[in-house]
Amino acid sequence: MNQYKIFLIVGARPNFMKIAPLFRCLQNKEKQFDTKIVHTGQHYDYEMSQVFFEQLGMVEPDYFLDVGSGSHAVQTARVMVKFEKLVGENRPDLVVVVGDVNSTLAASIVCAKCGIPLAHIEAGLRSFDRAMPEEINRVLTDRIADLLFASEPSGVKNLINEGAAEKKIHLCGNLMIDSLAYHLPQIKQNDIIEKMGLKGQEFGLVTLHRPSNVDNKETLAHVLKILRKAASRGNVVWPLHPRTAANMKSFGLEKDFRGIDNLIIVDPLGYFEFMNLMMNSAYLLTDSGGIQEETTWLGVPCITLRENTERPLTVDEGTNRITGLDITAIINALEWAANFDPSSYTPPELWDGKAASRVVNVLEDFLEQSLKGNAV
Ligand code: UD1
Repeated sequence: MNQYKIFLIVGARPNFMKIAPLFRCLQNKEKQFDTKIVHTGQHYDYEMSQVFFEQLGMVEPDYFLDVGSGSHAVQTARVMVKFEKLVGENRPDLVVVVGDVNSTLAASIVCAKCGIPLAHIEAGLRSFDRAMPEEINRVLTDRIADLLFASEPSGVKNLINEGAAEKKIHLCGNLMIDSLAYHLPQIKQNDIIEKMGLKGQEFGLVTLHRPSNVDNKETLAHVLKILRKAASRGNVVWPLHPRTAANMKSFGLEKDFRGIDNLIIVDPLGYFEFMNLMMNSAYLLTDSGGIQEETTWLGVPCITLRENTERPLTVDEGTNRITGLDITAIINALEWAANFDPSSYTPPELWDGKAASRVVNVLEDFLEQSLKGNAV
């Protein structure tokens, strides 16, 4: 039997929970797969990276590229230079990238140029907003990937509309939900709520880090007004992303944010801590992509502070409202959230905790076919 060498690429926080179930599944077939984790180092703080490796049961990365922060060009280029060298020395049979971060695109370009088969998890998601750096990363990665794994039907439709060959596309479900389903017992047991003194209290949960919301002083000052409104209704917990923390400081807005009554600002949290807060929160206010999906699976109302979403299934499911930064729309959405009844809610099809095994079956088949010279 052949053993295939597979590289799994992670770089930034949202990648870890998508790679972990795949890593576990491939490790269970270690006779067939020699699996290596490559961490680009795009995210490097303990609470943005290491804590996820520990909680999600992944070993240390096999390779750490240590690229750190920088402009988009610098970050992308550093990953490319270091990853190209690694690929040259190791020649993996296949590389898997996830999501839409700079590390995703950088590793993909290297694979395309070095002739290494590339699989993209979360393919086809589109916000149709080219001002988002992540949209550029998504479109370009899908264009050069050999295997396109979609998490929801819109992904398949978008890929077909863009001319991707149908045989490359596989609707396999949502790997991030695999992690959530698998770790649900540990998430439920986590004691963050007691530790924060929130036991028995209702609270909302906020995350904000998109450049369009936090990189401009006027916009961040507008976010301040939004959070004042939300906190005037009750407790709001806000784990602060490093990008947002840095901008808050440099725009001189830190004191104003920290002075909002009922707004509890904390450092970025581990996976179990954050997910425990999410499953117990009355609502989410967020600009994250992954959180729109996690709330959909949990049946928690999500208010998305963006003009669009690349995850329309979450809106169709009735758990997600897209409000942008319009205060009236947000107040209406807070009302909707307050009356939200999750009792009859069931998660979307294929978001069943088994996506990774479907992906691995396709990878196995693909690698066997390539060996025979029949791959797509
Ligand atoms: C990146 C992704 C985004 C994803 C997000 C999740 C891109 C283009 N963006 O955005 O899609 O939703 O991660 O968090 O890839 N920083 C730290 N410590 C860290 C990591 C970052 O202090 O561990 C600081 C950096 O110095 C930088 C800022 O945070 O100033 C932004 O980091 P960066 O990786 O450029 O993008 P994110 O905003 O995190």
